[in-house]
Amino acid sequence: MESNQETVTILAIESSCDETAASVVVNGRQVLSNVISSQIDIHTLYGGVVPEIASRKHTERINQVIRKALSEAGKTLGGMDAIAVTYGPGLVGPLLIGVSAAKALSFGTGIPLIGVHHIEGHISANYIAAPDLEPPFVCLVVSGGHTHLVLVRDYGEYEILGRTQDDAAGEAFDKVAREIGLGYPGGPKIDKVSALGNPEAIRFPRGKVDGSRYDFSFSGMKSAVLNYLNTAKMKGEQICVEDVAASFQAAVVDVLVSHAMWAIDEYGLDKFALAGGVAANTALRTAMRAECEKRGTAFYCPPPILCTDNAAMIGSAAYYEYIRGVRSGYDLNAIPGLRLGQR
Ligand code: KG4
Ligand code: ZN
Repeated sequence: MESNQETVTILAIESSCDETAASVVVNGRQVLSNVISSQIDIHTLYGGVVPEIASRKHTERINQVIRKALSEAGKTLGGMDAIAVTYGPGLVGPLLIGVSAAKALSFGTGIPLIGVHHIEGHISANYIAAPDLEPPFVCLVVSGGHTHLVLVRDYGEYEILGRTQDDAAGEAFDKVAREIGLGYPGGPKIDKVSALGNPEAIRFPRGKVDGSRYDFSFSGMKSAVLNYLNTAKMKGEQICVEDVAASFQAAVVDVLVSHAMWAIDEYGLDKFALAGGVAANTALRTAMRAECEKRGTAFYCPPPILCTDNAAMIGSAAYYEYIRGVRSGYDLNAIPGLRLGQR
């Protein structure tokens, strides 16, 4: 570790999808402010995120959000040791708004710039929620765009054990929710109605893939739900939305939990963490916690507000880059397909 500084205060910016967010984080774990301006209401009208609209809304809101993050933290821009920003993966237009804002602030003040990987951010949300958590641990990152089972060897050192070969888990939640008439965003809505349904009412297939046993597939499961709905419609049968939601959710949770437990058993690690928007799912959190407890594995999961997109997680990931001496140049660009571990 390069830095001997006692306190490192970072302004972090996140704009990779449909939340415009800024946060001030001290030493990677203490959040002084966490401002999130969500665009969900606008995108709900279209049934999903419209990239052009997202970019425009980020442009309109980013300065206000940054100002609010600094004022809520009781800080000025000059009091920052670094300005961090998500530069990928994500939607290129939205990413560019955050990257441009961060570069402008850094260039205007001379404060160092640090580009952060969005998934590293999601993983790091666990450092904020659990001050005692240190690598190594196994982390399952489940969001709208990603499903990655990751071995976190050290800060900034990752080995991807498995990933989805088709849809991300959150994407499957969103698509199934749309088909059963729950609308966007589907994850939280399926989570809510599932509580009223029977998870064993319909046995949807648990996706299997060729290749790494840690890889995931959710498109088959999603198609099975669509087939079930079409068959019911053709036969003129009434469907029970709560049962379909609960049964689909149970299938997703089953697959996520079994893959995570294989990794814990194989790598013999005593710590497991959940991350990403789908980690806010009640059934997933409950099932993972129970399975971890059975094995004597410590279970970590951030509160829902740190699971979905936010900038505090970016400030945490940036801190560990900062103390390793990582700095970005003004040629930092948005990289929509940035891979975990790629610099
Ligand atoms: O991490 P995130 O905010 O954005 C991405 O990086 O993708 O994740 C958003 C995803 C959406 O697909 C949303 O439906 C899902 O997380 N999600 C949930 C829940 N809350 C959000 N999925 C299941 N249950 C939830 N409670
Ligand atoms: Zn995310």
